[in-house]
Amino acid sequence: MVVANRLPVDLERTEDGNQRWTQSPGGLVSALEPFLRSRNGAWVGWPGVPDVEVDEFSDDGLVLHPVRLSSAEVRDYYEGFSNATLWPLYHDVVARPIFDRSWWDAYVRVNQRFAEAAAAVAGDGATVWVQDYQLQLVPTMLRELRPDLRIGFFLHIPFPPVELFMQLPWRAEIVRGLIGADLVGFHRPGGAQNFLWLARQLIGLEPSRGSVGVRSRPGMVQVDDRTVRVGAFPISIDAAGLDKLSRTRSVIDRAAQVREELGSPKKILLGIDRLDYTKGIDLRLQAFHELLQEGRVEPDDVTFIQLATPSRERVEHYQQMRVDIEQIVGRINGEFGRVGHTVLHYLHQSIDRSELAAMFLAADVMVVTPLRDGMNLVCKEYVAARHDLGGALLLSEFAGAAAELSSAFLVNPHDLDGVKNALEQAIKLDPAEGRRRMRALRRQVLTHDVDRWARSFLEALGAGPTT
Ligand code: ADP
Ligand code: G6P
Repeated sequence: MVVANRLPVDLERTEDGNQRWTQSPGGLVSALEPFLRSRNGAWVGWPGVPDVEVDEFSDDGLVLHPVRLSSAEVRDYYEGFSNATLWPLYHDVVARPIFDRSWWDAYVRVNQRFAEAAAAVAGDGATVWVQDYQLQLVPTMLRELRPDLRIGFFLHIPFPPVELFMQLPWRAEIVRGLIGADLVGFHRPGGAQNFLWLARQLIGLEPSRGSVGVRSRPGMVQVDDRTVRVGAFPISIDAAGLDKLSRTRSVIDRAAQVREELGSPKKILLGIDRLDYTKGIDLRLQAFHELLQEGRVEPDDVTFIQLATPSRERVEHYQQMRVDIEQIVGRINGEFGRVGHTVLHYLHQSIDRSELAAMFLAADVMVVTPLRDGMNLVCKEYVAARHDLGGALLLSEFAGAAAELSSAFLVNPHDLDGVKNALEQAIKLDPAEGRRRMRALRRQVLTHDVDRWARSFLEALGAGPTT
């Protein structure tokens, strides 16, 4: 059973007063949903709109248990503590976190509600897998209610350096909340090690001292009569599924059609993200802009497509960033577009999976430049879609995925000249070199899929055979 802030589907109210379910945004759902569906699991989460009471329901192999949040809780627990305190703090303070005591109270209250909902639904001795930064208090709260359960926790975003975590006024409470799990998982060994250090400093536990490996050698902490494991499990995608989808005739045809509709430019550049300030959308557009200004890239030869899923639209940092990005888009098109050729297509929209696969297949350069990202699944999706060994991946060193995708063009997103040079290199890449790089990337992504991630986590949790 999974417990996450969001259900995998989002309730949407349409203009005519009706409602419908759509897929929830973000990497957590993209990764976990196919895995859990194939195992007929249960999912406890919020349906994405405030003040609605929805009964438990089944959806194609999944049993969904909605948790109600009021408008004030959405404001204080979700937009406030989760997304204006924890999110920026855990992403290296790329925006200033706000520490508000009433938000913390709401966070505690809502975590308690999720723990109670999970406790009411889980069968005897069940395995419950709690997800992400919104629910860090749930493991201990749930253990108090249901000591019979096996509890795992996985953090989908980076776990910060200890100096940054120590800023949090409720730092000891968060560590105590997580330590209620039998296994606490992070993407990278560094995150696991930071957490072990904090368990010693903040709550006086005695963690093991050896270094944590990837999917191996978890750290151990004794908490009363329990041994808590702390490990690194880099998440991934349904690579075979996307590989298969991108080989279908309709996706291949659509990719060709996209290129044609754009006026058959020599090169298509692509960015796909939630519209989030951690993703470095502004700086990739700035790099593109400067390459055009310096004449290193000809406007008639290239088209940049930036797709941005609307996200957290009531949080101030997100509103400001949207204004900034839309201004840059206007400036680039104003200076370098001409009638009949738009250099930069910006869509503030979500697209479906087949269209996504077609975009990946059409793109000569995939541009992924987060300032900090726990993993980043988009870059892995691009690689999985490129069965033709075409395309090039430009990837930030500050995405968790960079540790696995060493054949990408790796860049430091804070170094604009470095990003420009790598972008130019990727645009002008020799096809044989491109194929060599893509082959190496595909070897990694296709053999390290989401199934392997989930199995390695559940095995370390001692949840028994999972196939
Ligand atoms: P995050 O979880 O921070 O949003 P990830 O890169 O890990 O970042 O995951 C994002 C997921 O959302 C991917 O599966 C990606 O394909 C999907 N996605 C992002 N933008 C769009 C979009 N405009 N339309 C459809 N899917 C999108
Ligand atoms: C990231 C987080 C998820 C979150 C997703 C979408 O992937 O790790 O926990 O669900 O972004 O964000 P949202 O705030 O819309 O749920």
